Amino acid sequence: MSTLEIRDLHVDVANPDESAEPIHILDGVDLTVNSGETHAIMGPNGSGKSTLSYAIAGHPKYEVTSGSITLDGENVLEMSVDERARAGLFLAMQYPVEVPGVSMSNFLRTAATAVRGEAPKLRHWVKEVKGAMTDLGIEQAFAERSVNEGFSGGEKKRHEILQLALLHPKIAILDETDSGLDVDALRVVSEGVNRYRDQDNGGVLLITHYTRILRYIKPDFVHVFVGGRIVESGGPELADELEASGYERFTAKAQA
Ligand SMILES: Nc1ncnc2c1ncn2[C@@H]1O[C@H](COP(=O)(O)OP(=O)(O)O)[C@@H](O)[C@H]1O
Ligand SMILES: [Mg+2]
Repeated sequence: MSTLEIRDLHVDVANPDESAEPIHILDGVDLTVNSGETHAIMGPNGSGKSTLSYAIAGHPKYEVTSGSITLDGENVLEMSVDERARAGLFLAMQYPVEVPGVSMSNFLRTAATAVRGEAPKLRHWVKEVKGAMTDLGIEQAFAERSVNEGFSGGEKKRHEILQLALLHPKIAILDETDSGLDVDALRVVSEGVNRYRDQDNGGVLLITHYTRILRYIKPDFVHVFVGGRIVESGGPELADELEASGYERFTAKAQA
């Protein structure tokens, strides 16, 4: 059983205009994610959802100015990015990066070796990767292609979930993994997330601004995220309200 605990988190991002003050984005986020739980964070564009995911993962441009993040009581903010991954945090990015010249098979094996602390036994590993690729409807030929290079949006998102399936993190943050997916890809990706939650008892932080994915991945908790913080938390019924009425009631609340 693992717990990711975020307390009163404030985060600034460096201003692109270097002479100007940093921009304050996260404004006191409180959130606790336990193993086996699925939390959906839903908010309009620009509300700071990706900033939250970057702050947890340790992106150098995002500075935590106050508050805390711990994983099973360990101070995440003192860890480097790779230490966070080894500790069991995983981020599926909203915009996965292309890495020309590095094959997917090489990348996955290197990542698994780094996270597990030893190279996975080759015969086992080949089977594991093949199985996970089949589960996600990824053709085996992809293993020899450069990471994300020339992948369609849907292929990139499947690849993120392939990493999730192979790395077995304690807590997975999925930043708009549903964006740009057609219905078939959405179903396959959702099944991958559900497998992770059920088989690994993983904790899931599902960031999205559409309720569509919640038909496939059932959240235990829904948090409405506006203006850099959670303005309301509830159960799945909160997503139904967002589906019906949008964010207006909440944006008004954030400005009050
Ligand atoms: N690296 C950055 N430089 C400048 N502004 C940024 C940067 N990252 C995020 N922001 C700003 O912070 C706000 C929140 O962004 P983001 O976290 O991406 O929101 P969301 O993921 O909810 O759409 C936006 O106004 C965005 O323009
Ligand atoms: Mg975002």
